[in-house]
Amino acid sequence: MEKNILTNNHIMTQRQLAELAVQAKSKALPTYSKFHVGAALLAESGKVYQGANIENSSYSLTICAERTAVFQAILDGERKFKAIAIASDADDFCPPCGACRQVLFELCGKEIDVVMTNKNGEIKSMKLSELLPFSFGEEHLR
Ligand code: THU
Repeated sequence: MEKNILTNNHIMTQRQLAELAVQAKSKALPTYSKFHVGAALLAESGKVYQGANIENSSYSLTICAERTAVFQAILDGERKFKAIAIASDADDFCPPCGACRQVLFELCGKEIDVVMTNKNGEIKSMKLSELLPFSFGEEHLR
C-alpha cells in the first residue's frame, strides 16, 4: 500500500515523489564516481525542489543531490518540509550521507520522511529521526 504525503495544498504519493527524484538524477554531474543521484524535496507549500549530485576535481568540494535540493528550497523562501526522495542506479537503496543527514535535520526537521528508491523502483521510507538519532542542533549552542 503506497503511503501518501499530505501538504497544505494537496496529496502526493511517496512513489510520485520518488519518480521526481529519478527524473532529477539525469541532471547529475558525477564526473569521477559515475554514481548518479537525484533528490526531490517536498515543501509544505506543495512545491517540489529537485537536486542532483555535482562533483569536483577537488573531490571534497563535491555536493550531494540532497543538499542541492535543500539549498534551492531555502533560497526560494521555504522553511517547512514534508519529505525528501532519493534515487540512484544502485541495487541497494541510497541512504543520505552523514553530512546530508545533519543538513536535513537542521533545515528540514527530524520528522521528515526520507523516501529511498533503488534501480528496480522499490521504495523504502524512514523518518530522519531514525537516521540521525541523538543529533546535534542549535539548542546545543545556547
Ligand atoms: N551522493 C549523493 O549525492 N547522495 C547520497 O545520498 C550519497 C552520495 C553522491 C556524492 C558523490 O557525488 C557520489 O554520490 C559518490 O559518493
